[in-house]
Amino acid sequence: MSIIKPTIQILPREIIDKIAAGEVVERPSSVVKELVENSFDAGATQIDIEVTFGGKKFISVADNGHGMIRDDAILSVEQHATSKIKSIDDIEKITTMGFRGEALAAISSVSRFRLTTCYQGEIVGTEVIIVGGKLQDVREIGRPKGTTVEVRDLFFNMPARKKFLRSPATELERIKTIFITLALSHPEVGMSLKSDGEEIYNSPAGGTFEDRIRDIFGREYFKNLQRVSFTKNEIKIHGYVALPTISRTDREEQYVFVNGRSATANVIVYAIREAYRGILAKDRYPIVFLRIDCPPEEVDVNVHPTKREVRFRRPDEIRDAIIDAIRNALSINVSAGENARAQPLPSFSRKQLTIGSNEELYPRISGKANAQSSAPAVEPAVTSAEPQVGGKPLWTWCRILGQIGGLYVVLETDSGLVLMDPHAAHERVLFEEFMAEIKSGNVQTQSLLFPETITLRPNEAYYVTKHIDLFREMGFSISIFGRDSFLVDALPACISNASVGSILNEIAQSLQQSGSRGAKDIWRQETIARAACRAAVRAHSQLTEKEIEKLVERLSRAEMPYTCPHGRPTVIFFPIEELNKKFQR
Ligand SMILES: Nc1ncnc2c1ncn2[C@@H]1O[C@H](COP(=O)(O)OP(=O)(O)O)[C@@H](O)[C@H]1O
Ligand SMILES: [Mg+2]
Repeated sequence: MSIIKPTIQILPREIIDKIAAGEVVERPSSVVKELVENSFDAGATQIDIEVTFGGKKFISVADNGHGMIRDDAILSVEQHATSKIKSIDDIEKITTMGFRGEALAAISSVSRFRLTTCYQGEIVGTEVIIVGGKLQDVREIGRPKGTTVEVRDLFFNMPARKKFLRSPATELERIKTIFITLALSHPEVGMSLKSDGEEIYNSPAGGTFEDRIRDIFGREYFKNLQRVSFTKNEIKIHGYVALPTISRTDREEQYVFVNGRSATANVIVYAIREAYRGILAKDRYPIVFLRIDCPPEEVDVNVHPTKREVRFRRPDEIRDAIIDAIRNALSINVSAGENARAQPLPSFSRKQLTIGSNEELYPRISGKANAQSSAPAVEPAVTSAEPQVGGKPLWTWCRILGQIGGLYVVLETDSGLVLMDPHAAHERVLFEEFMAEIKSGNVQTQSLLFPETITLRPNEAYYVTKHIDLFREMGFSISIFGRDSFLVDALPACISNASVGSILNEIAQSLQQSGSRGAKDIWRQETIARAACRAAVRAHSQLTEKEIEKLVERLSRAEMPYTCPHGRPTVIFFPIEELNKKFQR
């Protein structure tokens, strides 16, 4: 009988370590992240980073934190060596950035590694040199309190890994991205980044979140941000969110920190999208800088060692808090009535206003209901309930110069030239006025001369049936009339110029698209109002000169004047400074 040698074998320690290292250290930027997080944990108030060749040749992170005594310095590079947790219970309430004790071991096993450190109060420091995971030297050295880690030739002993690194420029971009995130997470810590001897960022210690955003992104950029400040129970949300006038095609500028740690979670992504629903087009992403603070036991950061994914114990509360926080900041739903009214109203000095002549302003739509609804949509039949108006008016004065392309309204304002899309603007003001009526519980309704029966597709009818009470609260007089059919005999006055059929169809489709997520009634009402206003504006094709004037005024006072409720822009600004620049003045 021949002896068969087993084909399974335990891997040598060295290979195991390298595999493990690859999990933590993927590229130069991940080294930077791990080292800077250690510096934060060490209580540093200043962290200076230097890289050369995109970090592929050299990375150095120097801090003035508490440092390590000799024995700890030697231990720190061992696998699973950490000072940050002692028992399994500690994992439940992590307050440090690290806790796995993997980073230094991993980094030192795939590079030429040098650590120097001096513990606070000690006279001599320690230098530890490791090459490819092998301890080469431990010496006494003189240095001030703190720790410096230098990493040379990353992956010099893992050619396969090294091949996957990108060009120095690309790796540097990733380092910058990581730097920004880290710098934002700890605005009180002074932080600098140098690449190939050139200073890229340098943000002083002792600043606030706001200072940090300004330092990194610039003053101009900061002007587009609105302050977020929200507390509910034990959840605090602070930071800045951008007006929809600036947005991106990706999520690159969504900085979210949960208890000081850069984090993502599906619920956060969802909440941000939901908060901007209706003011940002579907394919655009808002810019947000949010710090979410909650008791540590409410979050699980332990999902994956290198990922930023976190889990919340009560995701619904987090979701609602984020949405409310952002919406408050953008002054959606907020009664800023008081100070808004204190603002001077826009004044007009009109020169020439050329508007496409159109006799038939409200084209008759076939259908009996319209015989009744002759009220122009732009003049809501509401007089009793003052529509809620938002924050600062868009401009203190403006002049309507005319209309181009038979569509866009050209305005001169206190700050420059403005183009306005009257349909988008109309949708916005209608939507806000409608929502204001709903919120004040005082929706004006318009009875139809002849009640109409509308039949919807079954899956759409389902959503209308499900939310029929909401419809009634919103001024619709609607009842279920057999299978998938509805009888409507009154509409909210502000949208009553459109045909009942088009309104109901539009709403049903929107409700279906928004699905049956656990949304609040108010968000649901917005979905309905948005769709209704779209139908109403569509039915109202051409605006008169007077109507445009009125529209300009109403838009200038809207809560969220920049986009229509579906996220299309209402106005495009050309500030005088920008024009000066273009004309090279
Ligand atoms: N910059 C530093 N200043 C002081 N101590 C440090 C520093 N970096 C690492 N250490 C010590 O080395 C230990 C191991 O670090 P690391 O491998 O990153 O694991 P972790 O951060 O998960 O504990 C830390 O727990 C800490 O005690
Ligand atoms: Mg660490």
